Amino acid sequence: MRDIGQRLIRPNIAILFMAVLLLLPADLLWSAESPEGDREQGHRLFEEKRCIQCHVPPGKPKEIGPPLATLQRRQGLLELAGRLWNHAPAMQLQFAERGKAWPTLSRKEMADLAAFLLARPGADPPGSVARGQVLLLKKGCLKCHRFFGEGAGVGPDLSRSTVYNSPLDWATGVWDHAPKMRAKAEQLGTEYPRFEADEMVDLVTFLKTSADRNKGTR
Ligand code: HEC
Ligand code: HEC
Repeated sequence: MRDIGQRLIRPNIAILFMAVLLLLPADLLWSAESPEGDREQGHRLFEEKRCIQCHVPPGKPKEIGPPLATLQRRQGLLELAGRLWNHAPAMQLQFAERGKAWPTLSRKEMADLAAFLLARPGADPPGSVARGQVLLLKKGCLKCHRFFGEGAGVGPDLSRSTVYNSPLDWATGVWDHAPKMRAKAEQLGTEYPRFEADEMVDLVTFLKTSADRNKGTR
């Protein structure tokens, strides 16, 4: 792990990353943020998509996942995306054990569910590009993804992705891709990366800053 990390920090990528550091402050990143979701609609979706079967409201019998009260808390949207990322593998296992397919969530549905779970994009702290840069290497993303010519081509090229357009796009993308990433990690015998504290915010800030920077050049 350590070896891979060191090998990837080659001079060219280090220079690229340094250039990226000089960019926009993080709080200017999300100027094109989409409107917030509808809580009532999110509540309906929580039932329709059967989240409620495993995340039960207070007073209901035995839950399979953490109770609704744990999910529903004032949080940033990227913070929620981080929790979804971390817990997707165990959640997916529960779906599989019940013979259920992973539900699809459109961007609008994710916005509504996020509103119901009290997650707002504005509630995330500003991310650190410098910490995000380190995390991309440390979390092993480049074992499967290319990023400006570095890394492996197992998954999509992260320098060309549009999932950083807004925290909502990121959250929708995480829900969509996490099960496949997990399956791929298992197949390759590599670790499925997990995030603590504000790490997700830092990583996404870095990825978005780099992608924006290069929009004009590809
Ligand atoms: C089949 C059961 C099941 C269903 C259905 C389900 N989940 Fe989960 N969910 C779980 C389990 C189990 C965990 C805990 C996973 C772990 O321990 O890593 C979890 C964890 C989570 C977490 C992280 C909670 C935390 O502690 O940070 C969120 C957020 C979440 N689920 C949202 C949803 C949403 C939204 C839906 C509906 C679209 C949904 N879940 C449907 C079983 C389920
Ligand atoms: C074990 C391999 C593996 C690792 C490690 C991995 N990914 Fe992925 N990732 C994939 C695969 C495979 C897909 C495509 C899934 C699909 O088709 O839905 C993917 C999809 C994605 C997408 C969606 C891209 C798009 O444009 O649709 C993003 C964003 C992403 N990964 C980010 C990351 C980040 C950030 C890390 C490190 C924290 C990471 N991945 C680690 C395999 C991996």
